[in-house]
Amino acid sequence: MDVRGATPTRNLALELARVTEAAAMLAGRFMGRGDKEGADQAAVNAMRLVLSTVDMNGIIVIGEGEKDQAPMLFNGEKVGNGSSPDVDVAVDPIDGTRPLAFGRSNSLAMVALAPRGTMFDPGPFLYMNKLAVGPESKGLIDIEKPIIENLKAIAEAKEKHIEDLTTIILDRPRHDGMVAEIRKAGARIRQIPDGDVAAALMTSWPESGVDVLFGIGGTPEGVLTACALRAMGGEIQGKLYARDEDELRRGREAGYDFDKVLTMNDLVSSEDVFFATTGITDGELLQGVRYYGDHITTDTLVVRGLTGTIRRINATHSTDKLDNLSSIHY
Ligand code: FBP
Repeated sequence: MDVRGATPTRNLALELARVTEAAAMLAGRFMGRGDKEGADQAAVNAMRLVLSTVDMNGIIVIGEGEKDQAPMLFNGEKVGNGSSPDVDVAVDPIDGTRPLAFGRSNSLAMVALAPRGTMFDPGPFLYMNKLAVGPESKGLIDIEKPIIENLKAIAEAKEKHIEDLTTIILDRPRHDGMVAEIRKAGARIRQIPDGDVAAALMTSWPESGVDVLFGIGGTPEGVLTACALRAMGGEIQGKLYARDEDELRRGREAGYDFDKVLTMNDLVSSEDVFFATTGITDGELLQGVRYYGDHITTDTLVVRGLTGTIRRINATHSTDKLDNLSSIHY
């Protein structure tokens, strides 16, 4: 489609910022309280309420939560006020429920939208092997190749030595082999307890100092990452990962190909994507929610694939005014 000369269209991501801000403000109250369920429920309630005001006819394709029976927005649930455009919606009301429950860093609330039918539907297959990089290394990675080959390509693209590269990977026993390979190659490693969306986005966030994400994490999180990286200029590749033979068999019966490399295009086939994420706890990407008695502050990243615009929105919310207007208590 040639859109040159066209009047700028609406940036729905700006409306999504209100959705993730609301989720973060409610969920942030649970920081350190050890109550994952309560936090998830609060974030889901806030998201559902504010999503209902957005001008769109949305269907939830990725409603995170099934993995741990957490409260969730359901796959197939209709969201938005029903007006055009028709969109697929991916939500992760809290990516990093554990870090939030224990007051650790990098817990985020996030939502993405893309035209109807363009988002990958992972069904019940929850895990995906991922390789994500920033703009300089885009087009140069291959998840089928050994880690050392990818590190060489990234190092060359960034005019660094492999020893200068910082890799990031979830700290899980399933990654012992990958960690050994990275160590052998000589790159630096950050092993993180949770939050591989934040980690993947850091590859496209120069101040973070992170060059590449490796490892197996959530499939829903992989789709959300692809939506964000569409605008931020990075790349993610994935491969569905079965935890055992039974899952592999069920997946194959349902028509999923566990050998196929899922490219950005497979994960979200349109450039016309919107993504917003608000910090719940402090992290390298965003500041967490701060509460000041009569007001609350939030820090949100808002990106749009079509234009590549990346916005950072620091908002101050008046709790007195909001409490008079809203059915939820901030
Ligand atoms: P939730 O907080 O949404 O449960 O996800 C946290 C997370 O660390 C994701 O960022 C990651 O993709 C996934 O969990 C990894 O799964 P697991 O903890 O089962 O290894």
